[in-house]
Amino acid sequence: MDAKAKISLANKTIDTILVLDFGSQYTQLIARRIRESDVYSEILPWDIDEAKIRALNPKGIILSGGPESVTQSHTPRIPQIAFDLNIPLLGICYGMQTLAEQMGGQVISSEHKEFGHAEISIKTDSILFSDLDTTLNVWMSHGDQVQDIPDDFTLVASTASAPIAAMQHNSKPIFALQFHPEVTHTESGKVILENFIFKVCNARNDWKMDDLISQRIEEIKEKVGDNKVLLGLSGGVDSSVTAALLHQAIGKKLVCVFVDNGLLRKGEAVEVMQTFKENMNLNVIKSDSEEAFLRHLKGVEDPEQKRKIIGRTFIDVFDAEAIKIKDVHFLAQGTIYPDVIESSGSESKEARVIKSHHNVGGLPEEMKMDLVEPLRDLFKDEVRKMGVELGLAPEMLYRHPFPGPGLGVRILGEVTKEKTAVLQEADYIFIQELIKADLYDKVSQAFAVYLPVKSVGVVGDERRYAEVIALRAVETVDFMTARWAHLPYDFLEHVSNRIVNEIEDVSRVVYDISSKPPATIEWE
Ligand code: XMP
Repeated sequence: MDAKAKISLANKTIDTILVLDFGSQYTQLIARRIRESDVYSEILPWDIDEAKIRALNPKGIILSGGPESVTQSHTPRIPQIAFDLNIPLLGICYGMQTLAEQMGGQVISSEHKEFGHAEISIKTDSILFSDLDTTLNVWMSHGDQVQDIPDDFTLVASTASAPIAAMQHNSKPIFALQFHPEVTHTESGKVILENFIFKVCNARNDWKMDDLISQRIEEIKEKVGDNKVLLGLSGGVDSSVTAALLHQAIGKKLVCVFVDNGLLRKGEAVEVMQTFKENMNLNVIKSDSEEAFLRHLKGVEDPEQKRKIIGRTFIDVFDAEAIKIKDVHFLAQGTIYPDVIESSGSESKEARVIKSHHNVGGLPEEMKMDLVEPLRDLFKDEVRKMGVELGLAPEMLYRHPFPGPGLGVRILGEVTKEKTAVLQEADYIFIQELIKADLYDKVSQAFAVYLPVKSVGVVGDERRYAEVIALRAVETVDFMTARWAHLPYDFLEHVSNRIVNEIEDVSRVVYDISSKPPATIEWE
């Protein structure tokens, strides 16, 4: 947010904690923890213009970690303005090391690189550790460490391999930690950060999600002016919240394109259109493209090829729709922070392919557009909270994730309209029953898979030779690892009976008891 946007919220002056970024993978987490405590926080690069820091008028500055070594002379340093402002400073990891070095201490590249848990013992009373035990389990991730404490500083805490794990200035509100209080692995990390922002900086906890929404609306208005903005709406959480936010900011100047590729869950296309077009009065164009997708997928069995085809077709359809809309200068995307940090490419997620496609200017020549990504620094749960404030239905915001290629990767082998219809029915029954049994929110993701294997069954007096449906339900926090959900047998029996009885083309139902790794969550 620049100074102008801040002024527009100025009827309410908001206390700000500045996070100066030295490139740590955890920098956004620091800002996020502060927001969790209802204090506004903004991240700026360590070498930002002095005037920007002054304009922000921060109550305190946190110096983040970073990948460099202060033992090298060309590496980042804390700008002089941070000292001149005479406000509280908290250095974390690299932030501590450069602080120590700049204030006359000494940093060495230690022989023991320390990654993971460590126990600190607190040696000196410190406001930063007030109300905490004298030993804490913390998260370390560093090669260098402070060897000689600067003059006027006192040692606060040590670990076995980092004798100077925390220090504080004797007369000024300057603190430094070798470990990372922002990661959840650090016991009481939140309390340490809150001690800094409330007890040291005296910041007020008066920042709310509403403020973030107003701020983002101001920023969008300022950026796009009177121009039209195009958004690919998938109905997923991120693009839905982006749509709702942009709608509040620019109303009908937002044009959404929703591609119905025929590979969505049962009723999904109707629901998305109802929510956004009818209930929220958004400008949404629906592209009925099932035929194009199925045509391109005809005869294709290889999972990777199917993914690529679905991704490419999506882009073609989206681009063709976009060209029809005249005078669009901006492309909005629901990119969220994990999308920014996740390494792209290796996981071949189509959603990301689309994003990178547009990011690298892959849109047709005649459409040169600037990007609008209002959720780019937020985490998923923050996006959901914003969605609630914007009035989106909880069912939409708390829905299980759905892969970009949709049912295309849940029908093993060749995708056809008939198989899609069978899978949609089976999946619908499974999900409805999970909701009814109050199990939907207890699993992280659940779905049905169509197996192109024929098996014999008997229904009534008749022999049935038909395909198999697999049910998959997993519990996971981050979707990187997952455990198969131990759903009750009675429940599974009931779902299986319903599927075989109600869907003629299914002879058998199986339950997937593979965890990730080695299995992935999706079957293809
Ligand atoms: P896997 O199968 O890799 O899935 O264990 C992890 C999570 O990612 C989702 N997923 C995808 N999402 N495009 C997406 O947008 C894809 O191609 C894709 N493949 C998997 C999957 O549903 C699960 O939540």
